[in-house]
Amino acid sequence: AKELLPVVDQSILQYGLEEARQAGVTEIILVTSPRKKDLSHYFEPDEALEEALAQQGKEDLLARLRAVREGFKVTMVVQEEPKGLGHAIAITKEAVGEEPFAVILPDDLIRASTPVLAQMISLWEERKQGCIAVRTVAKERVNQYGIVVTASSEGKVHVIQDLVEKPAVEETPSQLAVIGRYLLPPSIFDSLRELSAGALGEIQLTDALRHLASQEGLLAYEFEGEHYDAGQPLGWMLANISYGLTNPQWGGSLRRALQEIL
Ligand code: G1P
Repeated sequence: AKELLPVVDQSILQYGLEEARQAGVTEIILVTSPRKKDLSHYFEPDEALEEALAQQGKEDLLARLRAVREGFKVTMVVQEEPKGLGHAIAITKEAVGEEPFAVILPDDLIRASTPVLAQMISLWEERKQGCIAVRTVAKERVNQYGIVVTASSEGKVHVIQDLVEKPAVEETPSQLAVIGRYLLPPSIFDSLRELSAGALGEIQLTDALRHLASQEGLLAYEFEGEHYDAGQPLGWMLANISYGLTNPQWGGSLRRALQEIL
């Protein structure tokens, strides 16, 4: 599972979990697929490994291993077929309940002094409206993202007029791209239910977001932080270099090694 690829010394998923923890999240709903067997065991205690680490005196690794699930109530939801992001969220309805909730797509790795989710929760508290993270991307990359059309803007906060999923480069209405962080009201489940299959035969979250924007309003938030698309080879390499250079254990050696290579 690409969520389990390491960036420096922990999985991409773990960065997402740490971000959620730092933003005060206490309940995790992990949507997984039958193909991603390792992922479905991610939160299960591994007694044999814990014992081995204890015997080898690797207390720091043991503490990190145990901390993975500490402070979280975890629910796993299996998406039996790959029917898209909208479907993945729709099947969490019961687990989420009647509360606002956050969606983290962990392969959008975001490095920020205040975690992006915490930035977005502050905005929610102020405006009491759903919001999605956005950043400006190069024009040739708009076809990889949901793209936002704004109605009005106040600094980094924009009122969304419309959204389009992965437009053709020559037809894009803007270069403001949706990045994998969403804070949504539970009414998004009604919007998802009303949808028939959209682009690519999948249930697109973007279509439900359009509906939400027209019914209740939806904000786009240009977050502060560096974004890496760690689900792609180049983004994953850049994330490793960026996180590696500031890693207390590896930063110095990595810098020297890179200078030699270059
Ligand atoms: C999904 C969404 C897209 C969003 C992107 C962010 O696409 O459908 O709107 O911009 O995540 O990473 P995916 O990357 O799953 O193709």
